[in-house]
Amino acid sequence: MVKVGFVQPDGAVVTVEVDAGKSAMEAAIFNDVRGIAAECGGLCSCATCHVYVDPAWVDRLPPPAADEDDMLGFTAAPRLRMSRLACQLRLHAGLDGLLLGLPPTQF
Ligand code: FES
Repeated sequence: MVKVGFVQPDGAVVTVEVDAGKSAMEAAIFNDVRGIAAECGGLCSCATCHVYVDPAWVDRLPPPAADEDDMLGFTAAPRLRMSRLACQLRLHAGLDGLLLGLPPTQF
């Protein structure tokens, strides 16, 4: 199991656990975490799973693929260096404890 913390706009952290191999989007959806709409179901075509990766974790993730990078141009909240799409973040043991901020625009 891999733990992921979703930081709400008020700073509260909702921590969930999912099997390795699931995406961070699935971790949120399966556990009813608010702030991830995932309208396209993880097909990298909606940008409603936008998250801000905690700065301590940014460089521990692989860079976005071209389709994720393109879709990050369509987020409702500003795109920042730590912006990622949660559906494209595949969880594994090395990411246990990952912290992802949720943009206020997704509430
Ligand atoms: Fe649609 Fe991630 S769920 S882009």
